Amino acid sequence: MRVLLTGGAGFIGSHTAIVLIEHGHHVVVLDDLSNASEEAVRRASRLAGVDIPLAVGDAGDRELVGRTIAEHGIEAVIHFAGRKAVGESVAKPLEYYRVNLGSAIATLEAMAEHGVTRFVFSSSATVYEQPGELLAESAPVGIDLPNPYGRTKAMIEAIVADASTADPSLQAAVLRYFNPVGAHASGEIGEDPKGIPNNLMPFVAQVAAGVRERLRIFGDDYNTHDGTGVRDYIHVLDLAEGHVAALEKLEPGVLTVNLGTGAGGSVFDVLHAFEATVGRELPHEVVARRPGDAAVSTANPALAHERLDWRTTRTLADAVRDTWRWQERNPRGYAG
Ligand code: UFG
Repeated sequence: MRVLLTGGAGFIGSHTAIVLIEHGHHVVVLDDLSNASEEAVRRASRLAGVDIPLAVGDAGDRELVGRTIAEHGIEAVIHFAGRKAVGESVAKPLEYYRVNLGSAIATLEAMAEHGVTRFVFSSSATVYEQPGELLAESAPVGIDLPNPYGRTKAMIEAIVADASTADPSLQAAVLRYFNPVGAHASGEIGEDPKGIPNNLMPFVAQVAAGVRERLRIFGDDYNTHDGTGVRDYIHVLDLAEGHVAALEKLEPGVLTVNLGTGAGGSVFDVLHAFEATVGRELPHEVVARRPGDAAVSTANPALAHERLDWRTTRTLADAVRDTWRWQERNPRGYAG
C-alpha cells in the first residue's frame, strides 16, 4: 500500500516508516518539523534502503494534505501529527486544540476529497477516565481528563467515530498507545526530545549520559510494588509493528485497540534496568508526586492480540539497551 504518515519524522512515525517498508509498503512523510527532524527521515531511508519522500508542511493544511495524497497516489493515512506534551497542553490549551483537532479534521477531509478510506490514528491510554491495571478498551473514555492533551485525543476519537457513521466506507483503526520507549536496534534513530525531557526513559538516559544531574522520582508512596508509579512500557518497534498489523487488517468501521504489553514496570524498575545496562548506579532522589499522575496504567492487550494477530516481543531490558545505544551514539540527538 502507498501510505502517508503525517508526523512521520517524529519518534513513533520514523520507526513505523521503516517497519512499513520492511513489510513491502511504500511510505511518504508529511511533517512540519516543529518537533521532529529531517535527519530522522534521512536515517530511516538509509535503514530501510529506499528513499522516503518528505513533504515539509502542516497536516492542518487540507490543501497540502490533498496535494500530497494526489501526488503520491496515497491509499492509506497514518495520522501521527500533533502536539504531545502533557504539561505544555495545560499552559497552551488553545494551541493544542487548534493543532491536534485541526490536523485530524483537515486530514480526514482531504482523504474524503480524494477517495482515501483507510485511516489509522495515534491515540493514547490517556483517554481513559480512570487509569488502572490491565485496562480494557471498554473502560470509560471521556473528556473528564486531567489535561487538554488527553482531551484532544478523546475528542479526535469521537470525530473519527462520527466520520465513520456518516461515511460507512471509512476503514479506521484507533490505537491507544501506552508508554512508547526504546529506539531502533541500530542506534541510528530514537527519541529526540527538545529541552528537558518530560518522560521518564529519555530523562534517565540523559542522567546516564551525564547531561542531567539526577533523576527526580515523582513519589514513592503509591500503592504499587515499590511505591513508585507503574506504567506499561512498550518498545517503539513493537508499537510500529502494531501499526502495520492495524493497517493490514482495516475493514469498514472503527476498530479501537490498546497497544501495550500488559506488563507493568515501576520507576525503580526502569532505573535499575538502566543501571544494569550502564554498569553503575545513577544519581536519583525521591521528590513529591507530579500532579495528575496515576499510580498504575497498564493495558489489557487481548483485543489487539485477537483482532490484529499482533503481540509485543521486546522486553523493558531490550528497550533500555536500545535507548542507551541511541543516547550514546547521538548525545545531542539528531543535532549530532
Ligand atoms: N517520572 C518520574 N520522574 C521523571 C519523569 C517521570 O518519576 O522525571 C515517573 C512518573 O511519575 C510516572 C512514570 O515515571 O510514574 C512515567 O512518566 P512519563 O512522564 O514517562 O509517562 P506518563 O505515563 O506520565 O505519560 C505517558 C505519555 C503521555 C500520555 C500518558 C498516557 O507521555 O503522552 O502516558 O497514560 F498521555
